Amino acid sequence: MTYNIDEKGYYGEFGGAFIPEMLYPNVEELRQNYLKVMAEPEFQEEFNALLKDYVGRPSPLYFAKRLSEKYHTKIYLKREDLNHTGAHKINNTIGQILMAKRLGKHRIIAETGAGQHGVATATVCALMGLECIVYMGEIDIARQAPNVARMKMLGAKVLPALSGSRTLKDATNEAIRDWINNPVDTHYIIGSVVGPHPYPDMVARFQAIVSEEIQWQLKEKEGTSKPDYVVACVGGGSNAAGAFYHFLEDKDVKLIAVEAAGKGVHSGESAATSVLGKEGIIHGSKTLLMQTQDGQITEPYSISAGLDYPGVGPMHAHLYTSGRAEFIAITDDDAMTSGLELCKMEGIIPAIESSHALAVLQHKKFPPDAIVVVSLSGRGDKDLETYIKHFKL
Ligand SMILES: Cc1ncc(COP(=O)(O)O)c(C=O)c1O
Repeated sequence: MTYNIDEKGYYGEFGGAFIPEMLYPNVEELRQNYLKVMAEPEFQEEFNALLKDYVGRPSPLYFAKRLSEKYHTKIYLKREDLNHTGAHKINNTIGQILMAKRLGKHRIIAETGAGQHGVATATVCALMGLECIVYMGEIDIARQAPNVARMKMLGAKVLPALSGSRTLKDATNEAIRDWINNPVDTHYIIGSVVGPHPYPDMVARFQAIVSEEIQWQLKEKEGTSKPDYVVACVGGGSNAAGAFYHFLEDKDVKLIAVEAAGKGVHSGESAATSVLGKEGIIHGSKTLLMQTQDGQITEPYSISAGLDYPGVGPMHAHLYTSGRAEFIAITDDDAMTSGLELCKMEGIIPAIESSHALAVLQHKKFPPDAIVVVSLSGRGDKDLETYIKHFKL
């Protein structure tokens, strides 16, 4: 069994491209070209130069000494929070903007939840001088106000999604609608390993730089390129896909995917997709999906806007059903406690999404000599309001 994509665009039984006919030419153009374009030496050169000089890569692999002492194991943090724009999302948007340019597109659309992907998209559009429209749920616009302001300063137009739960899935619906109406000049930069094939694979490849760096950084620090555990939060699953990518086929490396349990997995207010989800189709791909008996999507909930999605990328659906990755669901309260703990113990304010990954340390005992790499997917600046309200600071 492989945990990578097959030639038809499936991870096991999940993935594919379930799209309306009117979207077919756009998706097909991308499918036919993405691997070819990514393999071009000039593309690789430009991508790597921007990751280095613009994003600030490699991101450090930081040994968290005080946290390690507390939890009696060796904890390394992969510092994606130190990237330009504050999260891993920029790795993917740099890749996709270069792809869009090579495909001759000059109008960019995107969806965003936490606003990190929207900011990362607005940033690369400013960098390349391209028009940028970002769809965002009305609720997320309210709870991620600083990121909305950033997008506007960067020259993007932020359009609210007013239907459904008015969060990420609804923003995605709006973006798909836009793409159908603008097939020729527009590229849709999807922000996670979701959507129709080839998006999950393309985004995973752009994020794979994360595990590529973990390998050589760990070799330098520990004399081995293999961690014992890699822990990452999963919204759609792109930071996890990047952190897992080069370890997918190596079972010595245990993978832990962390979902948002919200107010409790069975509270009715949760985004624990793997546990609660059943096979279904969302945004063009067959995956695990929170849904009612008759197939209507259940509204997700999480305190973190970036994890508030009713589905999960097909790679992760496959990692879950095959048992390759362990899935752990973390409540709002536990994530917030772990986020504050990182502030106090290491002087790092994490994004609330990343705090979910950190909370695994409270829930699972790791052997004292194990190397545990936690993906610190983003910084907490955008979440200050939520932290302040939660802890009455
Ligand atoms: C900091 C951060 N981490 C994680 C996520 C979740 O996305 P993904 O699962 O694609 O990494 C987001 C999404 O906005 C984010 O902003």
